[in-house]
Amino acid sequence: MIIIYANMTINEGVKAGIYGEGALMKDSNLDIETTIRKFHGDDAPAIIEILKLNGQYSHPIVDGPEAMSKVSKNPSVVFLVSEIDGIIIGSVRGIYDGSRALIHQITVHPNWQGKGIGTKLIKNIASEFRDRGAPTISVTAGKSEKWDSIEFFEKLGFEDMPIKLMIHFDINELIKELK
Ligand SMILES: CC(C)(COP(=O)(O)OP(=O)(O)OC[C@H]1O[C@@H](n2cnc3c(N)ncnc32)[C@H](O)[C@@H]1OP(=O)(O)O)[C@@H](O)C(=O)NCCC(=O)NCCS
Repeated sequence: MIIIYANMTINEGVKAGIYGEGALMKDSNLDIETTIRKFHGDDAPAIIEILKLNGQYSHPIVDGPEAMSKVSKNPSVVFLVSEIDGIIIGSVRGIYDGSRALIHQITVHPNWQGKGIGTKLIKNIASEFRDRGAPTISVTAGKSEKWDSIEFFEKLGFEDMPIKLMIHFDINELIKELK
């Protein structure tokens, strides 16, 4: 379906909303038709663009195009994108290890936040994990100067756990340090 808005097709409008200014802003009331599908290798640049806009792209080694490609080929992973008329506006990725399902990352383009797209991504990844046998689902939620996802996940019914995510940024250094 082609939706005309301010003399633009939705495809042009989405592009303008993402890459330019003015068109299809966050609060426009369009009847949005989104598609959710599996990640393909050439989706990486569009997702990275969104991650950068949201301040979520600080570690290219784990979030860059090569990492995305490797992640998407892992059979334990579910990696989905949300698009409108072929333009990517969000993504979610997570892993089911046979017992626990964990969402590692979700992002929605700033112009499209607050329109139910994040909720749809969570519903789809949760359905896929459930179909694979997962009884529960967790997420690495948090907040930084640029983003805060705690309230979003609370609204969806996720509960706080007394857990802290810790990371060692150099796996070689860790192995060297340990006796
Ligand atoms: C967090 C994020 C994925 C949510 O996606 P979204 O498409 O904006 O969310 P939805 O429109 O489905 O929102 C569902 C509900 O959560 C609320 N919500 C969404 N993001 C929120 C936020 N950051 N803080 C508070 N509430 C939020 C919405 O207002 C909505 O509430 P309602 O049901 O009362 O109307 C998206 O806003 C985003 O990418 N944010 C920046 C990056 C980020 O925080 N990523 C997660 C890192 S773990």
